[in-house]
Amino acid sequence: MVDQCAQSGEDNRSPGIPAVRWDERPEGPVLVLLDQRRLPAEEVEVVCVDAPALVDAIRTLAVRGAPLLGIAGAYGVALAAARGFDVDEAAAALEGARPTAVNVAVGVRRALTAYRAAFAAGGEQRQAAEAAFAAARALHREDAGASARMAQHGLALLDELLPGSGYRVLTHCNTGALVSGGEGTAFAVVLEAHRAGRLRRLWVDETRPLLQGARLTAYEAAGNGMAYTLLTDNAAGSLFAAGEVDAVLIGADRIAADGSVANKVGSYPLAVLARYHHVPFVVVAPMTTVDPDTPDGASIEVEQRSGHEVTEITTPRVPVAGAGGGIPVAPLGTQAYNPAFDVTPPELVTAIVTEEGVVSPVTAEALAVLCDRSRQV
Ligand code: MRU
Repeated sequence: MVDQCAQSGEDNRSPGIPAVRWDERPEGPVLVLLDQRRLPAEEVEVVCVDAPALVDAIRTLAVRGAPLLGIAGAYGVALAAARGFDVDEAAAALEGARPTAVNVAVGVRRALTAYRAAFAAGGEQRQAAEAAFAAARALHREDAGASARMAQHGLALLDELLPGSGYRVLTHCNTGALVSGGEGTAFAVVLEAHRAGRLRRLWVDETRPLLQGARLTAYEAAGNGMAYTLLTDNAAGSLFAAGEVDAVLIGADRIAADGSVANKVGSYPLAVLARYHHVPFVVVAPMTTVDPDTPDGASIEVEQRSGHEVTEITTPRVPVAGAGGGIPVAPLGTQAYNPAFDVTPPELVTAIVTEEGVVSPVTAEALAVLCDRSRQV
C-alpha cells in the first residue's frame, strides 16, 4: 500500500486546477487536489493515492472548507474501494480527520452506504467500488447545483434587505470555488451580486492564523475581477463604526438543529459587531452542513489546532500541522489558544441561505422544515 501524498510531476502548474478531481490512471485511480496550502504563490497539485494521504491533506488544509471536505471524503472512500484497501478503516480515518465540518461525515457515509448496499445486493468488489464512486460523483454534482441555487436565493435576499444601488459586503475565511463543487457558498452569492452589478465592494477579512481570507478569498476575488479590499480581522470594528459595511456574508462548517452556526474563528465577533451596528449577518450553506443530530451550539465539537499556527507564521508554503517550522512571531514556548472555529448563536444570525430556501428568522422549527424538504428530494 502506497502511503503518500505526492506532488505531481511535469504538469503541476497548470492554472485553473479544480479544487478536487478524480483521475483514472494506468496504475489505478487517484484523487488530485489543488494544494491550497501553497496559494496564492503557486497553483500546484497534490496527488492522493489512498485514504491516509487524503487524511494528511485534509489535516494540513491542502483541501479544506466544509462542502469540499464532504466531496473529498466521499471520493476518499471510493479510492480505498477501487484500490482494494480496507474501506471501513479508510472511512473511519477520513471521518475523524477534522471534527467540526459535518460535511466530512456526510460525504464519507454516503459513499460507504452505497458501497455496502452494492454488496448487500449481491455485487462483487468491483461493483461496490463503482457504487461508491458514483455516490461521490453525485455528491460532487449536487453540491455544484446547490451552490448555484444558494447564489440565486442569496442575491434575492440581499436585494430585499438592502434595496438601492448596491452593497458593500464583508466576508470571513474562504467560501468560493476552492471549497465547493460549484462557485461556493457565501462567495457564490457575492459573485452573483458582482455579476449583477450590485456589489460595490467586498471587504475580505485576512482570517488569522492561516490567512484563508488573504491567501484564498483575495485570490478568488481578484480572479473574478471584483472590487475588493483586504483588512486585518481586528480592523472590522472600525470599518463597521465608519458605516462602511452593509452586510456580512459567511459560510458554515456545521449548523446545529437550533440554528447555531459553527464557522471559522472570528465569525462570532463579526455577528456581535453586526448586531450592534444593525447590519444583516447572513450565513450561506448547503443542506449537507445542517446537522439535525447536533441539537445546539454547545454540542458542536470545535477543532483545536496546533499553537504553532499562532506563534509562528506557517503559511503558505510550510504544512501547518505538526511541530512548527515557520517563522517565530512569539517567544519560544509561548502557549497559544487556537480554536479553528467559533459558534454563533441563532439569535445573532439574520438569515441562513440554503439551496432549499432562506430561513429568517432562524428557528429550530424553520430549519426542520427545510431538512424535511431536502430529505424528500
Ligand atoms: O479551516 P477551514 O479553512 O477548512 O475553514 C473553512 C471555513 O471556516 C469556511 O468558512 C466554511 O467551511 C464554510 S465554506 C463553505
